[in-house]
Parts: sequence; C-alpha cells; structure tokens
Amino acid sequence: MDETAPILLFDSGVGGLTVLAELRKLLPQAPVIYAADMAGLPYGAKSEAEIAARVAGLLGRMAERFEPRLICIACNTASTIALGMVREVLETPIVGTVPAIKPAAAITETGVFGLLGTEATMRQKYVEDLEHEFAVGKRLLRHGANGLVPLAEAKLRGEKVRIDDVAEATKGLVLQAHGGEIDTIVLACTHFPLLEGELRKAFGRDMRFVHGAEGIARRIAALTEGQAFERGVPDRAITTGELADFEKLEGAFARYGIDRLEKL
Ligand code: DGL
Repeated sequence: MDETAPILLFDSGVGGLTVLAELRKLLPQAPVIYAADMAGLPYGAKSEAEIAARVAGLLGRMAERFEPRLICIACNTASTIALGMVREVLETPIVGTVPAIKPAAAITETGVFGLLGTEATMRQKYVEDLEHEFAVGKRLLRHGANGLVPLAEAKLRGEKVRIDDVAEATKGLVLQAHGGEIDTIVLACTHFPLLEGELRKAFGRDMRFVHGAEGIARRIAALTEGQAFERGVPDRAITTGELADFEKLEGAFARYGIDRLEKL
C-alpha cells in the first residue's frame, strides 16, 4: 500500500466535513481528498436514478484518478441509494453513511424519536429496514428537510443563518401526531450537524441529536488499521462545479485543514 494513498471523502457539498472532523481526531496523519459534487447539489431533491448515476460515475472517475485506499460516501442520500451498486463495481473499500436509527432508538426516553434527512433519504427502503430492525416498540417520526441543506452551505460560506428559516424547514417533524413527545432526533444528512446550534434554538426545547459521523470515522480507522500514512501533497478539496463558487468556502475548508481547492 502506497503510504501517500488518500482517503477519499465524497458528498454532494460540504456535509462530509462533519465526517472529516471526526476522522481527523482518529487519523490525523491520513492524507485526505474531499470531493464535493457541487454541480449535482442538492441530491435530496433528485430522483434515485439521477443520484445513482452521478455517484457511480463520479466515484468511478475519481477512483481511477486519485487511487484512494478507501472511499467514504459521506452522504446519507447517496449511501442509502447507491452504496450497494458502487461496491459491486469498484475494488476500493467503501464506507457508507446510514441513518443512526439504532443508537437513537436505544436512548430515547419517551419512546418517540425523529428522523431528519433529505426527502430522497426518507423514501428509501434502507431506512424502513433500519426502523424495523432497531426501533421495534418505538415510534419513529420522519421528515424530509431539504431546506436545511442550502442553509448549512450558506453558513459555511460565512453567511448568517436565520433561526426562523431553520424552524420553517423542520417544523413538519414536530407538528405531526406525537411530535410533541420527540426527545431525540437522528440527523440523517451529513449537512445537518453543521447546524446543530441553530436546530437546538429552532426546536426551542431540550432535544438530543444523534448522527453517525463518529461511528463512520471509527469504521474507516478500523478498515485502515495497521496501514502507514504519509502526506505526499497537501490535502485538497475537489469540486465538480465552478471553482469561483467553491472558493467562497475557502475559510471553512481551512478550518478543516484543507487549503487547496481544485476543480475535478
Ligand atoms: N449531505 C447529503 C446527505 O447526507 C445531502 C445533501 C443534498 O441534498 O445534496 O444526505
């Protein structure tokens, strides 16, 4: 194994940075390429076929070009739709991101917990299967909150996020029957933990948020255990969109240790 072979983190936008933050804690030496499909953002409003085609096509190209030792699909929408398919065609080990329903079901005290993700993620059978396996006897309320994705992107560009907009995007979760009993919410979109403070204010009451970033980082560390890491070149972030737009995120990427932004 080439010591400089990177770990490739893939998301539609900046959501995967929530995974990168946890990964840095466990593997500070690991060379990373962060890939954002900005030309395809947002995934949450796209069809399954469109998402699967983009994710499979892009990961194929990037696997060939960057020869990563491991790929992490740091996006719930892409993972719940395309993980199996991509694993079948690529030889690179792939770690996906799936809604943290299991840990949330284990800690809810009221027995009623919420699931916030993109609309595309909410429709997936994958989510239903997790609910049947891990939330027996509990009530899981879902809400597709596509509106949070541009807010998280804006926040990382340094723009102000209004709590009213966060509340508007999420109110459908608590306004449904039994919504008032929710004590725990699964943030099943990697963008959403970027807004944890704003979400806390928007709900206006005590709420526990659960997401998968830490578990995903642990999985990546386990799969690369014993491998040597060396940064041959500085870590970089790659966009499928316009570089000028991507550069508005320069400050945010710098906070995650990435100073080079490039176009795919
Ligand atoms: N970050 C992605 C996820 O985890 C979705 C954002 C989007 O809609 O593109 O689901």
